[in-house]
Amino acid sequence: MNKAISGFSKLSKEEKIKWIADTYFSTPNEAIALLKNYWNTDEKVQQLHDEFIENTITNFYIPLGVAPNFLINDKYTTIPMAIEESSVVAAASKAAKFWATRGGFKTTIIDTEKIGQVHFLYQGEVSKLNLFFAQIKEQFYTSTASITANMQKRGGGIRSIELRDKTDLLPNYFQLHATFDTKDSMGANFINSCLEQFAKTLQAEAKNYSLFNETESEIEVVMSILSNYVPNCLVRAEVSCPIEDLMDKEIPNPQEFSTKFVQAVQIAEVEPYRAVTHNKGIMNGIDAVVLATGNDFRAVEAGVHAYASRKGQYSSLSHAKIENGIFTFWLDVPLALGTVGGLTSLHPVVKLSLEMLEKPSAPELMQIVAVAGLAQNFAALRSLTTTGIQEGHMKMHLNNILNQLEATKEERIAIQKHFENNTVSHNAVVAFTESLRQ
Ligand code: MEV
Repeated sequence: MNKAISGFSKLSKEEKIKWIADTYFSTPNEAIALLKNYWNTDEKVQQLHDEFIENTITNFYIPLGVAPNFLINDKYTTIPMAIEESSVVAAASKAAKFWATRGGFKTTIIDTEKIGQVHFLYQGEVSKLNLFFAQIKEQFYTSTASITANMQKRGGGIRSIELRDKTDLLPNYFQLHATFDTKDSMGANFINSCLEQFAKTLQAEAKNYSLFNETESEIEVVMSILSNYVPNCLVRAEVSCPIEDLMDKEIPNPQEFSTKFVQAVQIAEVEPYRAVTHNKGIMNGIDAVVLATGNDFRAVEAGVHAYASRKGQYSSLSHAKIENGIFTFWLDVPLALGTVGGLTSLHPVVKLSLEMLEKPSAPELMQIVAVAGLAQNFAALRSLTTTGIQEGHMKMHLNNILNQLEATKEERIAIQKHFENNTVSHNAVVAFTESLRQ
């Protein structure tokens, strides 16, 4: 059977589904029924989702959970989290509750600078290019006035434009390196529109510049695009308390706990294999809130991991110390987020998440997201350095196994009771379920 097709995007949604079902499924009607079962019953809502991307055939669900009791800068917040991994929301909620009685989370916005670049090739005397740039610099601002007017009204806009000589890296390679403040929007469209205009201005002005010879006046623009590396769009989240206050029923010896906890963070600071997993745990919290609030988690992921490698070796995003009997644990993380534009005003569940967060500004959302990351990291390290991670994980995983086994309500009650005091493993759950069924 021919599994290639031309003109697929021009087919109707029904035709696309039929082609997929007939081409890839032994029981096409079942595949069609499943796909349609995941359509929203409200046609308008479904149409909205259909139009987010091309070739939509259905919706892909992941759960939206909430983690309440986050005391952030003395204000309680309930954090929405879209995530499929069992135990993440439970861990966030547990960490939130733990810190709510120990002063809560404190956050600071370090900066909100976004970055974009025009990458171009220039063959000629560098001193002439520098002179040219200085003379036309103002034009970059005036030629983008219609693009920046609204952003300026909101207090944002272009912060700086620099000419950067990159010829030590690639022959003839230069950049316009620009920084922006995009206020409450993530700003990708705004930045890219500005950059494309900079590129046009650069080329047009070069053609008329009297000091350039013919080759010099032919500036070749390779591309104009924002950077997802935003080391100066940075937020810090922190928790701190006297060591003895860390005591609770799972931390009978806070001195020992805090020492081991700091050691675990130090290992992630110096050992990349551990740092990746350590940061993955942080991203469990960050991505879940980024996704729930309609933000671009790929951009956030790329930027965060680049930041974690900024010193030449991949390292921990979080840090911990004990000083004068005080335990402090903090996280610095670059987050380019928006609370207006994009999906934020379109996706009904995103709108709901933002309303639950009391309609935060972008910097406020940065703080909430960073806190979710720190809480997740705290929960993971707390388990890892005490009971181990599997105890909590397998308890949550039990539900997934029970779903696979299609356990009845009565079976679930009996199985859950049994595994309160027994170690959960896939085999153990299957064996116990079979024994019940005999
Ligand atoms: C699992 O999703 C995340 C952890 O592996 C994070 C960590 O090891 O710190 C538990």
